[in-house]
Order: sequence, then C-alpha cells, then structure tokens
Amino acid sequence: MKALVLSGGSGTRLRPFTHTSPKQLVPVANKPVLYYVLEDIAQASITEVGIVVGETSNEIRKAVGSGDRFGLRVTYLPQEAPLGLAHAVLIARDYLGEEDFVMYLGDNFVVGGIAGNSSTFRAERPDAQILLTRVSDPSSFGVAEIGCDGRVVALEEKPRHPRSDLAVVGIYLFTPVVHEAVRALTPSRRGELEITDALQWLLDGPYDVRYTTISGYWKDTGNVADMLEVNRAVLDGIEPGMEGQADAASELVGRVRIEAGAQIRASRIVARRHRAGRVTDRTSALHVDRGDCSIETARSSLHHAGRLPAHGTRRVQHSLLGRNVTVAPAPRVPAGSRLILGDDSRVEISS
Ligand code: TTP
Repeated sequence: MKALVLSGGSGTRLRPFTHTSPKQLVPVANKPVLYYVLEDIAQASITEVGIVVGETSNEIRKAVGSGDRFGLRVTYLPQEAPLGLAHAVLIARDYLGEEDFVMYLGDNFVVGGIAGNSSTFRAERPDAQILLTRVSDPSSFGVAEIGCDGRVVALEEKPRHPRSDLAVVGIYLFTPVVHEAVRALTPSRRGELEITDALQWLLDGPYDVRYTTISGYWKDTGNVADMLEVNRAVLDGIEPGMEGQADAASELVGRVRIEAGAQIRASRIVARRHRAGRVTDRTSALHVDRGDCSIETARSSLHHAGRLPAHGTRRVQHSLLGRNVTVAPAPRVPAGSRLILGDDSRVEISS
C-alpha cells in the first residue's frame, strides 16, 4: 500500500499564517501539519509516499527532503496547477501503479491517526473507504448523505442545503478502481476535478464505498479559533519535560514541555491540564532562541524563534504568534490629560 499526500495548491488562499509559508507547513504545537501527516502514514506501516507539489514545491521539498527522518521514501509529483483533488490522483497514476493507497490532504489533521482505519481497509478491502466527521458548518465541506440502510448514498461538495452534518475528512482509502473514476470526470463548476465526484461515480456504479466516523478532525480553514483548538488538543497530549534551558529566575509550573533549543529567561510559565497554560503578569522576559519549542501560553501558540521581551506586558492569551514575532509593551498612557478648553466646555474623561 502506498500513500498520496496532497501538498500542492496555489498558495494564494493565504491567510495571516500562510503568507510566508505553504498551508501544509502551518505549525500545530510548533510542528508543521504535514509532519503529523507523514508520521501518521509511517505509523500505518506505509513507506512509499508520493507528495503532490505545486507552486510551493521548494518549501515542501526543503521541509520534508527524502522522507528519511520519517522512515519514508518520498517521491515528489509536480502538479502544474491546482486542478482538483481528483486531478492529483490522475497525475499520480504511474506512481501509484496497481497498488491500493491512502490519499491524505497535507493540511489535514486527525487526532489518533489512521493506523486503525487503514488496517480495517486492508483486511476488508472495499473499493473505497472514507472517513466522516460531524461538523457544525457542513456547507463548507463535502457532505455525505446516509441512506436508511446505513450506507453512503450521495456526496455533495459544499452544499447550500446540507443533507447531514457528516463532513468528508481529507483522508481516503482507495483501490485502483478509483483511477477509472477520475478518468471519467469533467471539471466542476469551480473548474476542478472533484474527488467527491469520483466517489459519487463509484457510488453510482457497482462499487462498495464504506465509511467510518471519527472525531478529532481539523483542517486549515484559516479560522484562529480552530487553530487554537487543534493546538490545545495536541498540547494536552504531550508529555511534560525539560530539554531546553531555564534560568534561575524562571519558574515552570504544571504540564510544561520545554524542548531542546528553547531558552526561558526570568519567566513564569504555567500550564494546566485542561486550560493549556499561561504566562503570568510577572513575566518579564520570555525568549525562545531557536526552533522546536513547544510552549503554549494561555491557549496561545508561540511558534519557533518568537520573541516576547515582555517586560511589564500583560497576560498574553488566546493568541497565535508567527515566526520572528516581537511582542513588546506599548508606551504607557500618561496618567494625566492635557486639556486646552474654551469657555463653557464640558468634557467627560473615563477613569
Ligand atoms: P484545498 O485547496 O483546501 O482543497 P479543498 O477542495 O479542500 O478546498 P477548500 O479550502 O475550498 O475546501 O486543498 C486541500 C489540500 O490538497 C491542500 O493541502 C492542497 C492540496 N491540493 C493539491 O495538492 N492539488 C490540488 O489541485 C488541490 C485543489 C489541492
């Protein structure tokens, strides 16, 4: 079994965190989403991985390299333009050959991985197997309609009137029959070859498409609340530990993990089990010198090489800080106001 990881895309649907790097490299608890994807694939005992790359090919290649460090053999598959998820399957035809494969969107994140699902798939070998998850806003996803026999009847991409709250997760298990399906497609209204259409083609034919439901699914929607949530889910699962350095003026309280290369100076870092953690008012300086530091401050995520020379800075919370960020206290508001008022004026000054 092989894996096909989709890390193409134009790089234009960019948001504050991705204007400097591809969205597959957005860090979750300071590690690119794509690394979790690759680790997940390795854990499912798959070693051959094709990574579809587009405009941001150089950054992806630089971040992943040969795949060695994940125990994977990576082959890069250039896609000339982001013409759709099914188009990515089309261009990977030769690479995939006659093998079953898992297709994994490079900006998706699932808590708990895919090892369980892929072993069920290997054992039962339906024509295709998808993962579904309940969402509150189905109209921004591919949505599955389930018939009374409990099987998937139809799939619809971003429906205006969703027929269920079951969204299609960006991880699909396919047998080679999917190649026939993608060859039969024509571009959708948005001009892409849609993987939901390929699945619908299978559903309309004599093919067995199964599903399992999962929880703990996240994809980069650009929504900060979602990003903080996934950071929190990951940080809740990490083991506390001290591999970096903290000076004598610093205090680490609770489930804090300071990774190699991180330096904590004159700071108090507090983490709580279910309330991620915080940097208190007394923080006078928190300086992370270089990469791989997993600190969450009051549900905030401090990406590597961030700098918080926060002398006198108030609590930092619910925040996402990118690379090379400086958070500094603003100049103090003067205690008094200087007023030059004409006769008969009335001014109200809030205290
Ligand atoms: P998205 O562009 O997010 O695809 P989507 O159909 O889920 O779009 P939307 O945000 O509108 O829901 O891409 C998902 C992943 O697949 C992402 O990692 C980029 C990659 N990708 C390709 O590699 N090639 C393609 O042609 C497309 C469309 C996406």
